[in-house]
Amino acid sequence: MSATTRKEREQREAREDRTGRAEYILARAEELPPGRHRVFAVAGREIGVFNVAGTYHALPNLCPHQIGPLCQGRVSGTLACRAETGWQLEWVHDGEIITCPWHGMEFHIPTGQSLAFKEIRLRRYKVWEEDGLIKLRL
Ligand code: FES
Repeated sequence: MSATTRKEREQREAREDRTGRAEYILARAEELPPGRHRVFAVAGREIGVFNVAGTYHALPNLCPHQIGPLCQGRVSGTLACRAETGWQLEWVHDGEIITCPWHGMEFHIPTGQSLAFKEIRLRRYKVWEEDGLIKLRL
């Protein structure tokens, strides 16, 4: 995980799709294998792109708690307990949780949902692979 270099940003292409929304080429797909994530600078924003078991997800690199660099945090799973398992602790969402490096708030990457606060859900950006390239739409 690292912020993009100036050269990478300059190489990034942008074009508009049929709806007039901008599409950006972020990187070659092999640069972001499963289990990896990276922060890209896109049109003045910082966006974290995650490859979770072969599926890409993109979230803003801004934690809603105190605007920390959320996507520079660690990806892991989390402990949970529920009535169905007799309130036994279990490890869930392995590889799907980003933890903010500032104060530890956790978010579910595929949905953007805060684990601690049901009313907080991060914006998600459309990101996909096409012709070996990772593309993002703002
Ligand atoms: S800024 Fe992310 S947990 Fe505080």
